[in-house]
Amino acid sequence: MSSIYETLFFPGLRRLDPETAHDRTLNALGLAQSSRAGRPALRRIAGSIPIVPVQVGALHFPNPLGLAAGFDKDARVVAGLAELGFGHIEVGTLTPRPQTGNPRPRIFRLPADKALINRMGFPNGGVAAAVPRLRALASQPRDYVLGVSLGKQKETALEEAAGDYVTVMRAVHAYADYLAVNISSPNTPGLRELQGGRYLEHLLAALAVENRTLSAVAGVPAKPLWVKIAPDLSWAELDEILAALIGAGIDGVIATNTTVGREGLKDKARGETGGLSGAPLRRRSTEIIAYIARQAGGTLPIIGVGGIVTADDVREKLDAGAAVVQLYTSLVYGGPGLPGRLLRDLAS
Ligand code: FNR
Repeated sequence: MSSIYETLFFPGLRRLDPETAHDRTLNALGLAQSSRAGRPALRRIAGSIPIVPVQVGALHFPNPLGLAAGFDKDARVVAGLAELGFGHIEVGTLTPRPQTGNPRPRIFRLPADKALINRMGFPNGGVAAAVPRLRALASQPRDYVLGVSLGKQKETALEEAAGDYVTVMRAVHAYADYLAVNISSPNTPGLRELQGGRYLEHLLAALAVENRTLSAVAGVPAKPLWVKIAPDLSWAELDEILAALIGAGIDGVIATNTTVGREGLKDKARGETGGLSGAPLRRRSTEIIAYIARQAGGTLPIIGVGGIVTADDVREKLDAGAAVVQLYTSLVYGGPGLPGRLLRDLAS
C-alpha cells in the first residue's frame, strides 16, 4: 500500500530538482523539530516504533535501522530524524573547512531503478559550524546513537589527508557516539585511494593515536572508530583493507558507500557521473557484508548499507552478518514514514 507521502507529497517534491527537494525536506524537518506541535507530528508520521535493542561493543542501538551519512551533512535535523524512528543517525561527511562541492545539478533521480546518482563532492559548512549543534545534541538525554562522518577537503593532497581527518575528529570527538572514517566517496578525486595500503595504514594509525589521546584527556573510553568502504573493491583489495583495520584496532566496518558501477540500469539518467545508490546496489553491498563476516566476523562488526528498501532487505543484510543497517535512497522515494514501516514489518 502506498503511503500518504508517496501519493500526496512525493509527486510535488518530484517536480523539483532533487537537491531543492532535499533542501526543502531539511527545512521542514528543521521547523518540525523546533516547534511544540512539530515533534508530535513527526511521531505520528513515524507511528509506533518497536524497541529492538542491539549492543555493538560500547554502542547501544535502540533498533537496527539507522540513517546513512550524507542526508544530514551539517547535523541540522538530527532530533527530527530521531523522532522518525531511526535508531542511529550518521551526520556528515564533515570537512575541516566549509566547501561548496561540485556544480549543480549533482543529484539525479532514477525512479525506474529506485536509485539515485550523486556527485555532491562533500558540500558542507565545515566542522566548526556543526560543532554548536553537535554540542547541543550531546547535552540532551538521547535514545539514539549519533555518528559523525569524517572527511577531507577536496584540495588536500592524499599525503596530507590524515591531518584533515584528525582535525575533524578533534572538533567532534566529545559529542559523537561513534566516528566514521569516510574514505570511499567516489566524488572527491583520489579519495578512494586512501583505501590502499600505504595511505590507509598511516591514516588509521594517526586516527587511533588521536582517539586515544583525546579520550585520555577527557577521561572517557576511546570512541568507536568505524571505516566506511566502497563496494567497488576486488576481494584481494578487501582482504588488505580488513588486515589493516584489524591491525589498527578499528572497531568496525560500514559497508558500503555508493558504487561507480552501472550494471542493469533502465533509467535514462544512468549515464550521469557519480555514485549510484539504492536498489541496484543492494546485492553487491550484501555480498561484501557476507564476505567481511566470513573473513573477520567477530573481530570487525559491520554496519550494512546499500539498497535497503524493504524489511526483507534489512533481514538479508542482518543474515549476511551486519549488526545494524542504514539507508538513505529509499527514504527519498518512501518518505518520512519509511523507518517506522520498516521497523514494524521487521518486528512482525
Ligand atoms: C551519500 N552517501 C554518503 N556517504 C558518506 O559516507 N558521506 C556522504 O557525505 C555521503 N553523501 C551522500 C549523498 C547522497 C545524495 C547520497 C544518495 C548518498 C552514501 C550513503 O551514505 C550510502 O552509503 C549509500 O547511499 C548507499 O545506501 P542507500 O542509499 O542505497 O540506502
